[in-house]
Amino acid sequence: MPQSKMNTLAEWLKTSRCVMALTGAGISAESGIPTFRGVQGLWEKYDIMEFAHIDSFRADPVKVWRMLLELDQTILKARPNAAHKALAELETLGILGLVVTQNVDNLHQDAGSRHVVEFHGNAKRFRCLDCGTPYERAQVNFSEPPPRCFCTGLIKPDVVFFGEAIPWAAHARAFDMARQADLVLVVGTSAVVAPASDLPILAKHNGARVVEINPEATVLTEDVTDLILQGPASQMLPPVLDLIRRRA
Ligand code: APR
Repeated sequence: MPQSKMNTLAEWLKTSRCVMALTGAGISAESGIPTFRGVQGLWEKYDIMEFAHIDSFRADPVKVWRMLLELDQTILKARPNAAHKALAELETLGILGLVVTQNVDNLHQDAGSRHVVEFHGNAKRFRCLDCGTPYERAQVNFSEPPPRCFCTGLIKPDVVFFGEAIPWAAHARAFDMARQADLVLVVGTSAVVAPASDLPILAKHNGARVVEINPEATVLTEDVTDLILQGPASQMLPPVLDLIRRRA
């Protein structure tokens, strides 16, 4: 990675007044959580419409819970990597105002980020699909899926399935920040799922710089992105933090 691109990003981070990050599955790939698309992607193994749509969950909850429990075990074992920690440090330095994550693995919070919008919910929380009662993990009986609520409704992870709405508070806060941002870090997302993928485009339209951190180009790279650090986030971000600390 040419040092000059890292220097440029460090300079932009130091001089911007309103910085947000949009993260996707790629930032957690090095924590052992599979991404959704591309080689070995989760959607290569599980058909989205059969396993990730709310109608499929209602139609065959036992089948969908089988996939959910496999993903649950992976998420439980995962720990934050250097990229999550770098974003948490940017918040501590007063540079990064908000992380909007599409991920449901809680790794940004585990890394120390306090200002996090969970755009697609959080798999460490559970909720009844019928009455909305929230459940902690310890209160859910996973021995005979699908777990049921006391109202007999289906319990699901508190994540947004295809066919469900983005939680309104998360949507409002994320889009409000995108309107104000003058720098957006887009880390580890293919940017193909709206409305999350609209955030960097809206920010760009309002004059923000957009920086991608991703080993591969995405649908944003050609027309929206101002700078791409082409590599794994856990290798691209720490050197940028080093440059910022040296200039502190
Ligand atoms: N560092 C940075 N980026 C990486 C890394 C890495 N180590 N490894 C992979 N990537 C990139 C890939 O190149 C790809 O662009 O991460 C991106 C992962 O894309 P997806 O698998 O599509 O994940 P994401 O963009 O988060 O998907 C968005 O789709 O299925 C829904 O709700 C699900 O939140 C998810 C949404």
